[in-house]
Amino acid sequence: MTTQNERIVSGMRPTGPLHLGHHFGVLANWLKLQEQHECFFFVADWHALTTEYADPKRIKGFVPGLVLDWVAAGLDPKKCVIFQQSQVKEHAELHLLLSMMTPVGWLERCPTYKEVAQELSGQKDLATYGFLGYPVLMCSDIILYKASAVPVGQDQLPHLELTREIARRFNFLHCPENAPFFPEPKAMLTEEAKLPGLDGRKMSKSYGNSISLGEPLSEIAPKVKTMLTDKNRLRRADPGDPDVCNLFPYHKLMTSPELCAEIREGCTKASLGCVDCKKLLMESLTRFLEPVHERRNALLGDPERLWAILAEGNDRARAVASKNIADIRQALNLDF
Ligand code: TRP
Repeated sequence: MTTQNERIVSGMRPTGPLHLGHHFGVLANWLKLQEQHECFFFVADWHALTTEYADPKRIKGFVPGLVLDWVAAGLDPKKCVIFQQSQVKEHAELHLLLSMMTPVGWLERCPTYKEVAQELSGQKDLATYGFLGYPVLMCSDIILYKASAVPVGQDQLPHLELTREIARRFNFLHCPENAPFFPEPKAMLTEEAKLPGLDGRKMSKSYGNSISLGEPLSEIAPKVKTMLTDKNRLRRADPGDPDVCNLFPYHKLMTSPELCAEIREGCTKASLGCVDCKKLLMESLTRFLEPVHERRNALLGDPERLWAILAEGNDRARAVASKNIADIRQALNLDF
């Protein structure tokens, strides 16, 4: 679907350690993209403030933590630009400029606005100006680099739709018709690689059903033992159904296709029990996580390295951002 050499931008909010759900939902896609495209991946620390404004001190630790998770997973600072949003001030300038031309109605109508505000209404007051403007900041992050594609999860699609609308409005207001300034960035949906949590619900740290990328294997093993399988398979001799089992989606992502086929047959013919199936999964998890943990430990022994990766990425991002913002100022007659 994607042509060669797109410019890609994506970000994550630094709100805590990443887990396997994040890996297969978003990061796995980033790892592939860095091989082919010009990629800018950033820590969206200003975005984290929209919900953490009253108690922002935790964000500071989560910033290098996120970079640690990324690089341990295989993101390579030689192949992509890894940077921190708040260190490239052009994001804030563009956010301000775009806020002047974005109708409030567009933002109020954004489905995530009401949903998230309602979801967190007991804990946080999100009737703020900044939270309403979340999609304007996200739009700035993307079009500041004139990105053509944005790899995100399904939940971010309304924001991307707004990004395109705002870009179109800027082009309409400030550019000749035959020379639009911003491309309208398209969504690159992560292939449906939903990994359920250990209990079958959505994987989330707050549900206590996740496996984080930095978790020691010795702590993962007992969790795997308690995972739910096909609840209709009461005895070892009963045939099971991998398609309703909570373990099998893990195998599909981490176990070889040949072994997956064997597992499917063993389960449906009752020749493979759930205990043995879990042992196989532990082997797959070990194979998957070992190199991740190795890179992680190397970085933990050299914490300055994480800040150095960011510092270099910030410079590279800033070089592109400052050139584009100069052109934007000019288009708006603000080039004094
Ligand atoms: N809103 C995204 C999220 O919560 C994070 C984000 C901020 C982002 N700016 C972005 C993602 C720009 C893609 C592009 O996950």
